[in-house]
Amino acid sequence: MDRAVEPSLTSAPRYQSGFGNHFATEALPGALPQGRNSPQRPAYGLYAEQFSGTAFTAPRHANRRTWLYRIRPAAVHGSFQRIDDGRITSAFSECDPSPEQLRWSPLPLPRAPTDFLAGLATLGGNGSPDAHSGCGIHWYAANRSMRDRFFYDADGELLIVPQQGGLRLATELGVLEVQPLQVAVIPRGLRLRVELADDTARGYVCENFGAPLRLPDLGPIGSNGLANPRDFETPVAGYEDRAGDFELVAKFGGHLWSARIGHSPLDVVAWHGNNAPYRYDLRRFNTIGSISYDHPDPSIFLVLQSISDTPGADALDFVIFPPRWLAMENTFRPPWFHRNIASEFMGLIEGVYDAKAEGFAPGGASLHNCMSGHGPDAATWEKASGADTSKPTAITDTMAFMFETRAIIRPTRYALESPLLQRDYARVWQGLRRNFTPPVATSGRSAPASAPTSPARARAKRSRR
Ligand SMILES: [Fe+2]
Repeated sequence: MDRAVEPSLTSAPRYQSGFGNHFATEALPGALPQGRNSPQRPAYGLYAEQFSGTAFTAPRHANRRTWLYRIRPAAVHGSFQRIDDGRITSAFSECDPSPEQLRWSPLPLPRAPTDFLAGLATLGGNGSPDAHSGCGIHWYAANRSMRDRFFYDADGELLIVPQQGGLRLATELGVLEVQPLQVAVIPRGLRLRVELADDTARGYVCENFGAPLRLPDLGPIGSNGLANPRDFETPVAGYEDRAGDFELVAKFGGHLWSARIGHSPLDVVAWHGNNAPYRYDLRRFNTIGSISYDHPDPSIFLVLQSISDTPGADALDFVIFPPRWLAMENTFRPPWFHRNIASEFMGLIEGVYDAKAEGFAPGGASLHNCMSGHGPDAATWEKASGADTSKPTAITDTMAFMFETRAIIRPTRYALESPLLQRDYARVWQGLRRNFTPPVATSGRSAPASAPTSPARARAKRSRR
């Protein structure tokens, strides 16, 4: 029944550069109307369709929409029926969130045939898709490409973070290929088919119910740094003209719905606009840090943000901890002990995270909710407290990331009842001994056991050697 897939969707992907640009792209010459969006008769008998990502009246700098020129409009499909949600949920009130520090071992790869959608499981989240606020946090493990089914998420934008195995994301607006250390962002509602580039795939997904992710302001950093706009890549138009008995799965209102569709919805021949998928290579991140003393707040590691209605308090931050040099003198160099108002879900793509000597494996996850104390484990503290800070240290072969949210991240029942939950995680801090050495009263005078050393004094002391 299938007609041949058009070469434009099966050939090697090509990309356009820049974050949030107003792109214009066509897979057939002349398919894109010039000078207007909705001509009476578009070229090649195509249908014109608008796809908006923000309110029509959103401010110009935040407004996102794309015009699609396609073989059939998105409205052409059978009726939707509810299907089993599997391990996907947006019901974040099914368990009481706990102030406990939580950590999970990596999700095993499936044995039964499992595609990306079937391999998704929700670990937690906050807010609600109905209210367009908050996020869902999922992970996935898959061993099959989606073939005759397509998916879209009306509840949120998808930030996909592969950890093992590459993905080929065939979307309405073209094809994105992502490997571990790259991420992809799929706009709310964009239809796609997720194919595996390798035998298996594993990773994380943040489903952003709120404002679309954007690049943060840079403040005193200036006009360059962190994630640079030109390193974001959006596919060129590509389409398939394919008939068959296919399934269209929608996530809508927190649940999965299924409809039959007699053609591939990846039939967009040309498009223009700025509501489009993109990928980003995390190795391009321009990491900024202290070159004198102390450890800055992790906001310097911010890649993308979803802003809230309170300036400075994001609904969702995507933060990475990439390879970098640590040069701070007389400073405890790993992340410090802390309690934050924000809630932090962490994952590890590769290597070792510099605040945890063991137990936080690539593919694993941790959750430190609002005001839950955490920080380096005892082994890391011991090592870093005695380290020579007169020379810089290279942190290599690592990539950890964080989905950080303003609201509490509420774990799902699946997450709390999973055998992957490390029940003894909090023990990593139990080895932190009492080192307090108060002054011993002698002849009415006392001195601290070890005088604090300023960076300037440490430098002077070394130069005298
Ligand atoms: Fe933290």
